[in-house]
Amino acid sequence: MPLPSASALLAWYDRHRRVLPFRNMGSGAPDPYRVWLSEVMLQQTTVAAVGPRFDRFLARFPDVAALAAAPEAEVMEEWAGLGYYARARNLHAAARAVAARGGFPRTAAGLRELPGIGAYTAAAIAAIAFGEAVVPADGNVERVVARLAAEETPLPAAKPRLAALAQGFLADAAARARPGDFAQALFDLGATLCTPKAPACALCPWRGGCLAQARGIQAELPRKTPK
Ligand code: ADE
Repeated sequence: MPLPSASALLAWYDRHRRVLPFRNMGSGAPDPYRVWLSEVMLQQTTVAAVGPRFDRFLARFPDVAALAAAPEAEVMEEWAGLGYYARARNLHAAARAVAARGGFPRTAAGLRELPGIGAYTAAAIAAIAFGEAVVPADGNVERVVARLAAEETPLPAAKPRLAALAQGFLADAAARARPGDFAQALFDLGATLCTPKAPACALCPWRGGCLAQARGIQAELPRKTPK
């Protein structure tokens, strides 16, 4: 099945993208520190809950040097209420590593070496902050791609196949030209239209290229292996 065009999704994103506190809405280059912090917060915290906490964290620790120089207890205190406290410890350790090496690694492979950064977060930061041509595959992206391809294999077995399908968009020059926007367009599509229940296919920029929608099985996908 040919994937639908990246430019159709990007055009939709340019009109409908969510205005989020951690998003760089202007044309300036994104700050890797802000991108990294937001992606770590978003690992287990909702977009709505991250907003105010992101601003507060940045006010206290405005850059990676400030975070690296802070005592761990202060970082933990600032993280209070966000949960998954290993994130805060890893954040602090990663800040010290980044400060010691003189800046963030600029590739997903390099970013993965930092504490608390798995494959998904590394790809998200590399795409958004550094323009690397990678597609981060989180649950939202897996759902979008599973529907496009009408992938019937249940999760989690389908994960590698869905991640590979998502990377397939990079064959499209429009996705390669704007990897960070393309990633965030996929997140927004998954969060606002291609939702787990009752997806809003009538509004979807990709409806013409979606096999699940053509078959009327979009709300059933992705299938999941019963626990
Ligand atoms: N979820 C994880 N990262 C995100 C981002 N950059 N924008 C929106 N949702 C996200």
